[in-house]
Amino acid sequence: MHIIVLGAAAGGGFPQWNSACPVGQRAWAGDPAAKWRNQCSLAVSADGISWTLLNAAPEVRHQILATPALQPKETPRHSPIKSVVLTNGDIDHVAGLLTLRESQPFTLHATQAILDVLAANPIFNALNPAFVERGAFTLDQEVDVGNGLAIHPFAVPGKVPLYMEGEAVNVGAETEDTIGLEVEDGEGDRFFFIPGCAAVTPALAERLRGAPLLFFDGTLWTDDEMFKGGTGRKTGGRMGHMSLSGPDGSMAALQALNIRRKIFLHINNTNPILLDDSPERAEVEAAGFEVAFDGMQIVL
Ligand code: MLT
Ligand code: MN
Repeated sequence: MHIIVLGAAAGGGFPQWNSACPVGQRAWAGDPAAKWRNQCSLAVSADGISWTLLNAAPEVRHQILATPALQPKETPRHSPIKSVVLTNGDIDHVAGLLTLRESQPFTLHATQAILDVLAANPIFNALNPAFVERGAFTLDQEVDVGNGLAIHPFAVPGKVPLYMEGEAVNVGAETEDTIGLEVEDGEGDRFFFIPGCAAVTPALAERLRGAPLLFFDGTLWTDDEMFKGGTGRKTGGRMGHMSLSGPDGSMAALQALNIRRKIFLHINNTNPILLDDSPERAEVEAAGFEVAFDGMQIVL
């Protein structure tokens, strides 16, 4: 199985267009230790020829430009991208669907809740239904995404998309709104992709125990990082993202689960682990975790 990280950053990317926080300033200055990152998406393939995107980031065109495997190979119209799977309805994960118009056949897989959000936004009708089939999957049931890959979708603690929030938001709900994926090829290789997660519940810990590879929500280093840095008013907890550090953080929750490779992605532009030379990056790596970057490739 081939995996390419197309984007390792959280919503807004790194640097974010309006953010000159200390971490972002290093990126704006072109510091090589502060690599720019697109918003969160992976490309996965069983054979290296036909590919599935996990989420469709706003930068998907740029991601294709940077990734020869995803570029058209046959005249006059062609794409190696055969399917797209969504883990939630947030803008960083769905806006790229608008770029994938142009009557190119592929299948779009998501929960009914996420497909309903898209259906309620007529701009997504730009994905011509004659070419783009939308398939609702059921949580905890295997889905064949058509190119030698199967996915197992499961709910993780999360919430509805930010732009769908009403007065009362049930953060931490385990519903169709925020899911994780286990991706498997026909040869026994598998990995987990969980770009947004509010908590590692005992059930999630058991699911992940002994996994060969995990991509996990790396949004914030500390829960109050945006609040303290003046870049936002919300905590990570309120946004549906558990933070990495501390006794209640994701590093502590994941460390003892005997997961062979643990990689943080969906990293917010304020998170100091984005800097190759930060003490926080050293701490993450010393604890046995990796930090994803755009173009990172893994072959299982
Ligand atoms: C998130 O992961 O919390 C969202 O991407 C936030 C947003 O839409 O900006
Ligand atoms: Mn996001």
